Formats: sequence, structure tokens, C-alpha cells
Amino acid sequence: MKINTAEFIISNSDAAKCPKEFLPEYAFIGRSNVGKSSLINMLTNNKNLAKTSAKPGKTQLINHFKINNNWFLVDLPGYGYAKVSKKTKSTFQKFITDYFETREQLVCAFVLIDIRHEAQNIDIEFMSYMGESEIPFCIIFTKADKIGKMKIQSNIAAYKKQMFANNWAEMPQYFITSSLESSGKEELLAYIDEVNQEVFKNNSEF
Ligand code: GTP
Ligand code: MG
Repeated sequence: MKINTAEFIISNSDAAKCPKEFLPEYAFIGRSNVGKSSLINMLTNNKNLAKTSAKPGKTQLINHFKINNNWFLVDLPGYGYAKVSKKTKSTFQKFITDYFETREQLVCAFVLIDIRHEAQNIDIEFMSYMGESEIPFCIIFTKADKIGKMKIQSNIAAYKKQMFANNWAEMPQYFITSSLESSGKEELLAYIDEVNQEVFKNNSEF
């Protein structure tokens, strides 16, 4: 699939104020600094579309980007940012869980995981929450440029083992990406295209 247009529509901290248009949408979630906003820019060929930063905690709101006038990419704030006190923020901010629990247009979430790291409790916890809430999701391993090909394979094998150890019967579908090198882009866009076609065909709400 080719992305011809990508436009910023709205930012907000209230799931109820997200765009009313009933178009399929895909949300990017994961730890702060994992590369959610960078991946949106990589997919859309626009370095300035989503705001990125070397410091964690850059994205603070729900951001809707309309793609090809036909579907949405959604950039979300990260979780697990230690600097924000527990008083002001629960582990997963309420407006984010509200978004996941109420957003009918959400057809798939992408949970981003830094490929260099072992499975972290907070990610496993978030994926369990997605499973319990029956929200379809895939894993996207990010920053693949930071390690070699062999290490990528062994880290993924280790990740799978940790998922099984945490009672996951099977590894969710996953993608390996690098925003720096634009790798994984075709696979991810092909997947989105496939899901779009399926929901437009089978879900009369769209
Ligand atoms: P928050 O909005 O704070 O939750 O972070 P985020 O997940 O949106 O991360 P962001 O895209 O802002 O990227 C964080 C840092 O990681 C930036 O310095 C990016 O340049 C860097 N980064 C993101 N993706 C990649 C990648 O694929 N490779 C490398 N080497 N660096 C990356
Ligand atoms: Mg961000």
C-alpha cells in the first residue's frame, strides 16, 4: 500500500472527543521512548508529522492522523515513564484505557517493544490487559538497526519464551522495524491494507 496523504487531525486527552468519523484506526502504544512517533513518521514518509524526542514523555495526548483520507493512525503517550509521579498518573493513564475501552473504530493496536530489551513486566501487563479487554493487537519490535541480525533472531526467540512463561499460548503476530533504516515498512503497510480491506468488506459500520 502506498501512503499518498497523511494529515494531522486532532490531539486530545478525552477519548470521547476523538474524531467521530467511522474509519478503521490503528493505535501505537508502548513504553515511553520506544519509538511510536518515529514509526508513524517513517510509515508516512514525513519526519515532521508526529513529534519525537530523545527524551521520554514527548507525546502527551491522543493524536489522530488521517491517512489516504480513508483510515487513521493514532499516536499515543507512552507508559512507564518513571519521572511522572504515581499520584498524577496511574500505570496506564485513564484517558488511554478509556480510549482502548470505548473506541469502536480501533481495529488493531500495535504494542511497540524495543528489540534490545528482555520482556518487561509493564509490557506483559499491558498485553494481558489487551487480551482481557479483547482488543486485537500485534507486537512491533523497534530499533532493529541497533543490533545485528543474529541478535535480532535470538532476542525474539527469548521474547517468545518469556511470553510462554507468562502464560501466553501463542506469540502474537509481530513485525521487526527500524525507523532509522525504514525497515519493516512494507510488511506493516501490507498488513494494515489487508485488515482495512477485510473490515471494509465485512463490517457494515465502516
Ligand atoms: P514518547 O512519545 O515519549 O512516548 O516516545 P515515542 O515512543 O514516541 O518515541 P520517539 O518516536 O519520540 O523516539 C524516541 C527516541 O528514539 C528518539 O530519539 C528517536 O530518534 C529514537 N528512535 C526511534 N525509533 C528509532 C529507530 O528505529 N532506530 C533508532 N536508532 N532510534 C530510534
Ligand atoms: Mg511519542
